[in-house]
Amino acid sequence: MKKAIVSAVVGLAVVAGSAMAADGAGIFKSKGCGACHKPAAKSVGPSLKDIAAAYKGKEGDLIKFLKGEAPAIVDPAKFGIMKSQLAKTKALSDGDLKALADFIMNH
Ligand code: HEC
Repeated sequence: MKKAIVSAVVGLAVVAGSAMAADGAGIFKSKGCGACHKPAAKSVGPSLKDIAAAYKGKEGDLIKFLKGEAPAIVDPAKFGIMKSQLAKTKALSDGDLKALADFIMNH
């Protein structure tokens, strides 16, 4: 029993470690998100700055949105365009999602 707890804790530490190592900017780029999201100017989608402002203090909700578990709050009328993109973010590991959300929130 004790051994199980120890290995669970070690497992969590490994997950946390890989979350810190994941490269949010690289994921954003490789998934093609930048085609519709610019750092500060609105383009096809809202700017990263506007997204970060809408999710200020609610990074958990942003991760939920990227998992397809929470509704759009920035520009719901245009969610139809973003919806198909969620297939890419839903497939990410929790560590990668956290890194991606951190990257967005730092705008
Ligand atoms: C084809 C254009 C397009 C691409 C590519 C795209 N998005 Fe979007 N995105 C949009 C549009 C349009 C909106 C506004 C609708 C909305 O708010 O959901 C949006 C909104 C968002 C939001 C705000 C959600 C909210 O609460 O309203 C986030 C976060 C986001 N995108 C992240 C991403 C990430 C991460 C990627 C890359 C995997 C990505 N987008 C790729 C068009 C795109």
